[in-house]
Amino acid sequence: MKVRTESGTKDVRAVWFEDGKTVMIDQRRLPHELIFVSFDRYEDVAESIRNMTTRGAPSIGATAAYGMCLAALSGADIDEAAKVMKAARPTANDLFYATDYMVEKVKAGADPIKSADGYAQSMVDKCTLIGNYGAELIKDGFKVMTHCNAGALATVDVGTALAPIRRAFADGKKFFVYASETRPRLQGMQLTAWELNQEGIDHAIIPDGSSGHYIREGVDMIIVGADRIAANGDFANKIGTFEKAVLAKEFGVPFYVAAPISTFDFNTKTGEDIVIENRSEEEVTMVGDIRIAPVGSPALNPAFDMTPAKYVTGFITEKGILKPNEIEKVKE
Ligand code: MRU
Repeated sequence: MKVRTESGTKDVRAVWFEDGKTVMIDQRRLPHELIFVSFDRYEDVAESIRNMTTRGAPSIGATAAYGMCLAALSGADIDEAAKVMKAARPTANDLFYATDYMVEKVKAGADPIKSADGYAQSMVDKCTLIGNYGAELIKDGFKVMTHCNAGALATVDVGTALAPIRRAFADGKKFFVYASETRPRLQGMQLTAWELNQEGIDHAIIPDGSSGHYIREGVDMIIVGADRIAANGDFANKIGTFEKAVLAKEFGVPFYVAAPISTFDFNTKTGEDIVIENRSEEEVTMVGDIRIAPVGSPALNPAFDMTPAKYVTGFITEKGILKPNEIEKVKE
């Protein structure tokens, strides 16, 4: 993705490998600062996934691949490293997919850096295809709603939900994007809006609770990403996705999920079996160091929700746009 810096426009990825280190954008510092951090121990890479220095399913996958690369280069026990990596977060399928991919490569004697770089590049290529397929759906004058951040930051580069938006914009289409803020970690406001801003794409941040208001007023399509898609098309994505999908059906708004095949988990039969991560109360009750909730009131903080397949118009993948009952076709 192209970002504007004090020294001009720069092309950056969310995560990459350089001089024996895994380097990534510290996404917790955006939009205030564009800071890069690097790690040379796989355990620290796992921690960077856990504490959300990097986040978004495909970026988590690529980061895990680079973490596993460090494990292989340091001569660590690869199965032990895989266990540590997979324990970082429970919901995004890409974490497990990428870790297993690297275990297989390393055990087959493949070059760890080339393998991890190949994995990251394949994500970017898949996202580009998702953009090409999805852009066809965006027409001039459209109002498009998205949630959380499924942009370049979340996918190494390009994005999943933001890929069709980038491509349609590059094709000269004129449209408007609603980016819902995504309490409590604010990925919509701090990351999606930052990406749209860098590109110059017309958009506004909206409070999560106003989605229904705008959907009723007239949204033409909703595109979100996914963390895990079950074999029957039920899927988990950032908390707040489910109600948008239900409202979309109520008001006849097409609801699309953009994701690479690495996010599909054919071993999970339905969405009921997807593990939903619960994060700390403090993410809800605190803003920085300041408590904004009454002392003594507990908070609940599910990071994701599950949306049944019946609410999905289509899955935009690198293999085309699929209806929920067609996804078995792309089983790898
Ligand atoms: O908790 P996060 O920020 O990792 O959650 C991210 C999301 O829910 C994204 O929508 C999803 O991973 C798709 S990213 C292309």
